[in-house]
Amino acid sequence: MTTVLLDAIGQLVTNDETHGGLLGLVSDAAVLVEDGVVRWTGRSAEAPAADRRLDAEGRTVIPGFVDSHSHLVFAGERGAEYEARMTGTPYSAGGIRTTVAATRAADDDSLRTSGRRLVAEMRAQGTTTVEMKTGYGLTVFDEERLARLSRELTDEVTFLGAHVVPPEYRGDADAYVDLVTGPMLDAVAPFARWIDVFCETGAFDVEQSRAILKAGLARGLGARVHASQLGPGQGIALAVELGAASVDHCTFLTDGDVELLASSSTVATLLPGVEFSTRSPYPSGRRLLDAGAAVAIASDCNPGSCFTSSMPFCIALAIREMGFTPAEALWAATAGGAAALRRTDVGSLRVGARADLVELDAPSHLYLGYRPGVPLVRTVRTAADWLLTDVTRQD
Ligand code: NIG
Ligand code: FE
Repeated sequence: MTTVLLDAIGQLVTNDETHGGLLGLVSDAAVLVEDGVVRWTGRSAEAPAADRRLDAEGRTVIPGFVDSHSHLVFAGERGAEYEARMTGTPYSAGGIRTTVAATRAADDDSLRTSGRRLVAEMRAQGTTTVEMKTGYGLTVFDEERLARLSRELTDEVTFLGAHVVPPEYRGDADAYVDLVTGPMLDAVAPFARWIDVFCETGAFDVEQSRAILKAGLARGLGARVHASQLGPGQGIALAVELGAASVDHCTFLTDGDVELLASSSTVATLLPGVEFSTRSPYPSGRRLLDAGAAVAIASDCNPGSCFTSSMPFCIALAIREMGFTPAEALWAATAGGAAALRRTDVGSLRVGARADLVELDAPSHLYLGYRPGVPLVRTVRTAADWLLTDVTRQD
């Protein structure tokens, strides 16, 4: 098998504690890749021999971002809602139904094309692993369709039939829960790894959420929860109770929530782009980090609450608004996202991990926050790209 040495790296972020510190930084570094897998990382001067050498020209190299929360397969857009929010109208879960109507009316090809475009947009900004939720279909037929199309784009598909109660079930949410936990789950489960529920006033209450998550767990799916986005609630406690891999948003955290998260293996996934795009208060990431909770940062790219696909933007916000250090924010957007997906093969450049590597046109990772809004991503290579004959191609 051919080995490739990515050499002359100015600063390498490995997230490998054996190199010391949170980020396992190595300067004047190199990475040895074999068969799409990291085989060695360290100082360039000590690099093993390789069949081929690539020159990083002093750039910073980081693990690809792991975006553990997104909604990418949908039709239509809601720019007018965004405009209204910027002049004081609060975000409400009801807007989801606008996207549901547009998505139901769209054919597979247009959904596939727009989903692919968003994945490409993410990749160009350094994201190499993405989780993707259904939730804009809300019929058995449409949820199955969205799961199938999402599965074409990622292995990390989440069934979010419990996004909101669709109009045809208005006033009979329990009947909709029966549909979600019965025929809809049957249809979607073959394409999904996860089940999720929007546990919030205006969406699903805690009892409905528990029933939905338990049905998914019984089918072998892992649990994730949207909780405490619009106000404090019981969703975080529910996520911890059921051993969910992640509870996402956590905008309105109580002291009890922080304690529960700190004593659990459930990752708190913060979505700073949502607070930014809905003019909501930012939760304190610092509070979670100081308590010892596992924290991830994700984009939540969707047409309603936050239409950014940029993990560097989310990192800059987490540093500026949520009390993260630059190192903590980068860790949360890589290793944290991997933990939120219960993955050990992505989110770090430990030996044995997938060689998902991003070159930044910057002398250090600090530039992700120091130069906000600037396209620093120069080259993105995923494990599959290293297997190509010409790994030197630029994205
Ligand atoms: O994660 N909160 C629920 N779901 C999405 C928003 C979806 C939408 O507004 O279309 C979120 O923010
Ligand atoms: Fe979401």
